[in-house]
Amino acid sequence: MSDVTAVYPGSFDPPTLGHLDLITRGCRLFDRLIVGVLRNTEKTPLFSVEERLQMLGEICRGLPQVEIREFDGLLVDFAARVGARAVLRGIRAISDYEYEFQMAWMNRRLAPELETVFMMPAEAYSYLSSRLVKEVFQLGRPVIGLVPPLVEARLHAQRQAR
Ligand code: PNS
Repeated sequence: MSDVTAVYPGSFDPPTLGHLDLITRGCRLFDRLIVGVLRNTEKTPLFSVEERLQMLGEICRGLPQVEIREFDGLLVDFAARVGARAVLRGIRAISDYEYEFQMAWMNRRLAPELETVFMMPAEAYSYLSSRLVKEVFQLGRPVIGLVPPLVEARLHAQRQAR
């Protein structure tokens, strides 16, 4: 069988250790893993897409199969552009299922040849989300052990710049 490319899409605002865990697991399954950062004009992000791309690039430096890209528009079109046969998504709690299944079914309708692969992060990250990291940090508690040290430093730098 030929090499398998997968896309791991998300907002990554900011990237967490849960994301990194999933990326590392994905590298064991796929020959090439494209981390796709959605350029979503509707949301007001904490970090710009460029900052997120840069942080992800640094975090994934030791993982040669990984490429970091941005995308906008439909995920299935991005997957087709990069030659991906699979979409990787993390599933944490049961509450993730409804949203993830809706997306996976819609993506299957749009691109029947594209498979969605769900993986569980390490148990330690099963409650972790970018949204909670942002909230905890903004309300004054440390996020050590939840995000890579580089992301933590960027969070502090951004707070000081404000
Ligand atoms: O990390 P997130 O915010 O849960 O990621 C959501 C993401 C980026 C995977 C999803 O919003 C997405 O794929 N958006 C692209 C637009 C699209 O394809 N929409 C239809 C999918 S059902």
